[in-house]
Amino acid sequence: MTADKKLVLVIGGTGAQGVPVVQALTSDGKYAVRVITRNAASAEAKGIASIPGVSILEGDTYNEATLRKAFSGVDYVFANTNGFAIGEKAEIFWGIRLYELAREFGIEHFVYAGLEYASKLGHFDPKYRTGHLDGKGKVTEFISAQPTTPMMWSILTSCLYAEGLWEFLRPFPDPQDPETLVFAAPLGDGLCPLIHLDDYGRYARWVFDTPARSSGLNLHVGTEDIGWKDLASAFTAVTGRKAMYRNVSLDEYFTLGLFPNPDAKIGRSSGQDDSTFVSYRQNFSGFWNTWKDNLTKRDYALLDAILPDRVKSIEEWMIKTSYDGTRAFVLRGASS
Ligand SMILES: NC(=O)c1ccc[n+]([C@@H]2O[C@H](COP(=O)([O-])OP(=O)(O)OC[C@H]3O[C@@H](n4cnc5c(N)ncnc54)[C@H](OP(=O)(O)O)[C@@H]3O)[C@@H](O)[C@H]2O)c1
Repeated sequence: MTADKKLVLVIGGTGAQGVPVVQALTSDGKYAVRVITRNAASAEAKGIASIPGVSILEGDTYNEATLRKAFSGVDYVFANTNGFAIGEKAEIFWGIRLYELAREFGIEHFVYAGLEYASKLGHFDPKYRTGHLDGKGKVTEFISAQPTTPMMWSILTSCLYAEGLWEFLRPFPDPQDPETLVFAAPLGDGLCPLIHLDDYGRYARWVFDTPARSSGLNLHVGTEDIGWKDLASAFTAVTGRKAMYRNVSLDEYFTLGLFPNPDAKIGRSSGQDDSTFVSYRQNFSGFWNTWKDNLTKRDYALLDAILPDRVKSIEEWMIKTSYDGTRAFVLRGASS
C-alpha cells in the first residue's frame, strides 16, 4: 500500500456491523479494505465487493492459515468476531489470537469491536452472566492491558443495534387491541442503549483517522440510552400509531417467539458440543438483567464532540429510517 492509502482488514466485514464500517472507510477512497468471507458468491459478499476499494479473501476467519493470508500486507485491522456463531470460549481465543497476529504482522493500529463485560460490571453475580457480552468483555480487558506502542489499539464498545427494532426488538400487535403495537422486554424501568449502525461505521472511521485521540481508548458508543416506555412514545410521536411498553418477566419473554428454541446453545458453528456453551435463555437472561439494572454508561458529551452530526435519539433514528415497526432482516443470521 502507498503511504497515503492504508489497507484495512475488516473481520466480519460482510455482517450487519461490518458493512457500515467498510462503507465509512471507503466512502471517499481514503482507505482500501480487505474482507474475509466464507463464501465470495453470497449476496452480502458480492455487495461489499462492489464497493470501490474493497477486495475479498475467501476463507474461514477462525482458521490460522486463512488469517495469515489475510494479514499479509495490511496496515490496520478492525475485528468484529462472531460470538453467536462460535461461542464464548472460541470468541475469547480468537480475539486474543487476532491481537497477537496483528503484533506479529507489524499492524499499525488494531481496532477491536467490543461489548460490555456484564459479569464484571455485575460483580460476578450469575444473574448478569451473558456469554456474548462477557466473551468480548474479557478480550477487551486483555487488549486494554497492552501498551500502545509499537502497535496502537482502540476498542469500540457497542450495544444493541437500533436496526434491531426491525427484527429482534420489533413490536407486535396487542391481541386485545390489534391497533396497538406492543414493545415487550424484561427491562423494568431500566434504560437500554441502542446504536445506529451508520454512526457506528463513522465512529470506526474516526478511530482510524484520529489515532492521537483514539489510541488506547475504549470508546463506548450509543445513540441513546432509552427506556421502553419512551421507545413506545417515540414510535407514536413518529408514526401516529398507538404503542405501549409491556414489561414482561424473563419466563414470558422466552415464550414470545423471538427465539425459536430458547434452550438451544450459542456456538452453533463450531460443529461440536461444548460444556461451556450457554443457552439463548441463559445468555439473554443475563443480557436483559444487565440493562434492567443500568450497569453500563456512555459519555454522550464525548460522542457529540466526536460526531457532532450523529443521530442523537431513537426518535430521530425512526424519522431518518422511516421506521414503521414492520419486520425486516438486519442480521445475516436472522434470515437463515
Ligand atoms: N445484534 C446486535 O445488536 C449486536 C450489537 C453489537 C454487537 N453484536 C455482535 O456482533 C457479532 C455478529 O456480527 P454481526 O452483527 O455483523 O452479525 P451478522 O450480520 O449475522 O454477520 C455475521 C458475520 O460473521 C461472519 N462469520 C464468520 N464466520 C462465521 C460463522 N462460522 N458463522 C456465521 N457467521 C460467520 C459472517 O461472514 P460470512 O458469512 O461472509 O463468512 C458475517 O460477516 C456478534 O459477536 C454479536 O455479539 C451484535
